[in-house]
Amino acid sequence: MKNYLSPSILAADFWDLGEQIRAVERGGASYLHVDVMDGVFVPSISFGFPILEALKRKTTLLLDVHLMIVEPERYVETVASLGADIITFHLEATKDPDEVIRRIRQNGKKVGITIKPATPISALEPYLEQADMILIMTVEPGFGGQSIIPHCIEKVRELRKLTLDRGMELDIEVDGGVKASNLEVVLEAGANVIVAGSAVFGADPEGHTRSFVEIMERKQ
Ligand code: DX5
Ligand code: ZN
Repeated sequence: MKNYLSPSILAADFWDLGEQIRAVERGGASYLHVDVMDGVFVPSISFGFPILEALKRKTTLLLDVHLMIVEPERYVETVASLGADIITFHLEATKDPDEVIRRIRQNGKKVGITIKPATPISALEPYLEQADMILIMTVEPGFGGQSIIPHCIEKVRELRKLTLDRGMELDIEVDGGVKASNLEVVLEAGANVIVAGSAVFGADPEGHTRSFVEIMERKQ
């Protein structure tokens, strides 16, 4: 499967956001990961609609929006209209995942479903056929810069096996604590969409992106 890098702007320098995004574009990123947090589903608040709107008008990267919010069904339409290409919601954040999926599809966007570290892969099973991408959180959602939780890598392995057994070609994204030093391990476990925040942004986003992409191209 093709591998895609999705740098997470949560770790970017917001004073200089435009140039930081240009840098990851030059480095060869495919997506841009946008973490929307509401202070309820997760303890922190990040950013929302105006930032999304600004991004869409200026970048050619696909917008990979990760909603860490309760009742995501309430916001799908707005997020779609602001230019999200993939809308990923937490299974734990809604009483009605089918309704969220229906709304994402109705707006012509790709469906991403994600689970927190403590949620088992079996919870995803009823929805697998309806998803374009599954995001396995490899840290507790809410903050960048944490260390990867090893048992979550095993969940990636379990999910990839499950999809292969079913003959499905599903994108599996990982998010949290991915660095150049553990990138090969998560790819080998079966992830093909890689989110990286603190490992990409900072001093040299273009160079870091290039190094990630180089490893990912070699491994696909
Ligand atoms: C965490 C966010 C991540 C975060 C990843 O809740 O979903 O996307 O930005 O940051 P790093 O790569 O620094 O762990
Ligand atoms: Zn994220």
